[in-house]
Amino acid sequence: MGSKIVGLGMYAPPKKMTNQDLEKLVATSDSWILERTGIRSRRIADPGVPNSDLALSAATRALADAGVRPDEIDMIIVGTCTPDMPLPSTACFLQQKLGAANAFAMDLNAACSGFLYSLSVADGLIRAGRGKKALVLGSEVLSQITDFTDRSTCILFGDGAGAVVLAECAEGEGILSCQLKSDGGLWDLIHCPGPGTVNPLGPDLISRRMIYIRMSGNETFKHAVTKMADLALKTLAAGGYGVDDVAILIPHQANLRIISAVGKRIGIPPERVYVNLERYGNTSAASIPIALAEAKADGRLLAGDLALMVSFGAGLTWGSVLMRM
Ligand code: ACO
Repeated sequence: MGSKIVGLGMYAPPKKMTNQDLEKLVATSDSWILERTGIRSRRIADPGVPNSDLALSAATRALADAGVRPDEIDMIIVGTCTPDMPLPSTACFLQQKLGAANAFAMDLNAACSGFLYSLSVADGLIRAGRGKKALVLGSEVLSQITDFTDRSTCILFGDGAGAVVLAECAEGEGILSCQLKSDGGLWDLIHCPGPGTVNPLGPDLISRRMIYIRMSGNETFKHAVTKMADLALKTLAAGGYGVDDVAILIPHQANLRIISAVGKRIGIPPERVYVNLERYGNTSAASIPIALAEAKADGRLLAGDLALMVSFGAGLTWGSVLMRM
């Protein structure tokens, strides 16, 4: 047995934050942001909107696309680093909101790699016979952990959610190869110091702005390019395919320069690389499932196409999945 995506859905909050809006908050410019990242605008959830509300909209659309009822879902996995609460999981809130009474539900935190990690885990559970249908999401409200006084990070991030319905299929269809990697030795390149057991909540945490993402952008950039390209090629080879077989590369939408460099290293032409970050920025775990849903809606991802996905994020974590649509 294997598993296959049978439904896709995405949701982004309506409120748009443009580069011009950011010019009013920090010393930056539309031209700098566009040139260095490729981002023009990002979506921001209103304060107090829980992550599970974004997830619910994306999941409802994916279920409708698949023609699957919530009570047919056996498992819900939400890739996220911005949960509704420390506990219970955002996946449990989503289960309740959906009425997916027959599912077990859990979150998975692999930062920007959260969706591909979750997809790989769901694929493994379906192959092991633990269920036949899974709802797999990447869903984030990164604006809640973004420091809007730090120009090196606040220009990058946005909010959104993407969902897929994964269903059991014959071996050799659907997901063909999954590769996951991490290097905890490089945790400090991208991290949010607290609140947590290392840095418990207290006035100090807030005054020292330790509740927000910190990133060594330049160092992260270099790791992202080499690690994503190497793993994508390994995933292709493990599936028994070459670059020419790939209809579309769907990379994590972090930075257009990273995406271009990865495409070049892999040897895939830009017209076969999906990019939508100019409208959403980096939505962490949500970026690949949002891109998948939009690629299908745009007619760029057709039944039978070979799609290669690759992600990179805090951890460090990186992952790649090859699938036949
Ligand atoms: N506007 C204007 N100037 C800026 C801004 C800004 N928003 N941000 C930084 N600068 C300045 C810097 O201060 C620096 O100035 P200096 O030369 O006087 O010191 C100069 O621009 C260059 O800064 P760099 O950091 O070298 O710029 P770089 O070209 O590397 O771009 C960026 C920065 C966009 C952050 C890039 O490094 C990047 O995208 N890194 C990877 C991000 C990523 O992929 N993260 C992984 C996922 S995140 C997650 O998992 C949650």
